[in-house]
Amino acid sequence: MQKPEKPQNGDPRSRPNKAVFIITFGCQMNEADSEDIAASFRRRGYMLTEDIKKADAVVVNTCTVRQRAEDKAISQIGRLRKWKLAKPEGKLFVVGCAAQKLGGKNLKGRFPFVDEVVGAKAIESFEDALVTQLGPTPETETAHQNLFRSPQTAYVTIMRGCSLKCSYCIVPAVRGPAVFLSPAAVLKDAADKIAAGAKEIVLLGQTVNSYKHGQTTFSELLKEVLALPGLERLRFMSPHPLYFEDDFTALLGRERKLARYIHLPVQSGSDRLLKLMRRGYTRSQYLALLSRLRAAAPGLAVSTDFIVGYPGETEEDFQDTLSMVKEGRFTMAYCFKYSPRSDRPEMAATLSEPGIEARLEKLLEAVKINSRVILNERIGKIEEVLFETETYGRASGNFAVRVKAGGEPGKVARVLATGAEKNSLMGKVL
Ligand code: 5AD
Ligand code: SF4
Repeated sequence: MQKPEKPQNGDPRSRPNKAVFIITFGCQMNEADSEDIAASFRRRGYMLTEDIKKADAVVVNTCTVRQRAEDKAISQIGRLRKWKLAKPEGKLFVVGCAAQKLGGKNLKGRFPFVDEVVGAKAIESFEDALVTQLGPTPETETAHQNLFRSPQTAYVTIMRGCSLKCSYCIVPAVRGPAVFLSPAAVLKDAADKIAAGAKEIVLLGQTVNSYKHGQTTFSELLKEVLALPGLERLRFMSPHPLYFEDDFTALLGRERKLARYIHLPVQSGSDRLLKLMRRGYTRSQYLALLSRLRAAAPGLAVSTDFIVGYPGETEEDFQDTLSMVKEGRFTMAYCFKYSPRSDRPEMAATLSEPGIEARLEKLLEAVKINSRVILNERIGKIEEVLFETETYGRASGNFAVRVKAGGEPGKVARVLATGAEKNSLMGKVL
């Protein structure tokens, strides 16, 4: 979530600013939705607050990808009972994936103090919920909407939902099949965010590289966004290994503004599990894709997601996942314990909880060691760094980079990496 800003909207002489507190769980898609929700509130003269006591409205943007995420959202809503008691005129909105899965009736039954429930599928109609609760948007405020500065990195959603059927995943059930935004809508959103100060755009979607709208493919959309004046860097997440075409590889090779960083979830290193998970590729196909991408774009950094403890995971399957860490040369990996989702056919766990925990620990350790090796390999090389402050920025491969001085915020500079510390590269601006 974007840092709260000073009140800029509305005319403070005519009435005091109201405040909204936004809590976001889950992925970047949710973060992007929360930014849009924040913008809707700003158009009504609200400012963002991080102090719940000052909030006149609260939004909980929920996730349900794993049971823990859903549980966290539910207990957060429970805790808001106190706020509502202290401020009965305050409005509480529950939105996102858990809201979609559980439904308004269920949630309002359990938590009668919730004013409005807007599920992930209906998130674009959040504005209607605002109108219901707070009345029509005052005309005068609409004109101010572009006065707000975007964060340096801004998210642009290009698709919603997912049309794949990975066995473990609840997202298609919750968010529905893939729907692509038009190139015109994407370009307008990106251009607005750049005009408002964004330097880096991250295109978002569950299978972002499957983008297809009319004749426009993912690579063509990338080209159009890359042509926007003022853009310094373009990223996207999360792609699926099945959808990288040759025109993308070529583009990655020649476009310096396209980040040399891809987050490419593999989930498992075992062919047997990949098949059970219905991922649509084998271990060697995935590795061949990495080779193809790296051949076109030397130095490409790749991170990934792994699931451990999938039902039926044997020691051999797990060893295949462990060895994948090194072989894939991942800079970083998110590792998740398998979490059974209720609307998936019940799959028996074959490992005890301590057994899964032990595997997770081993995997995390392997990822940590590998990340260190990959980071150290960068020492002595030149990185293109997009600076956020004079001393901090991120390399094209998404590594955090620190320098003593000389960075220009919002601009890319060449930096010689001279060392590594924790998860960052240390360097000198050239
Ligand atoms: N259990 C554990 N991890 C999951 N993910 C998705 N569904 C589940 C689940 N049921 C992980 C995948 C995905 C990431 C966003 O969340 O690794 O890439
Ligand atoms: Fe994002 Fe998936 Fe969570 Fe929904 S369920 S918020 S899509 S991570």
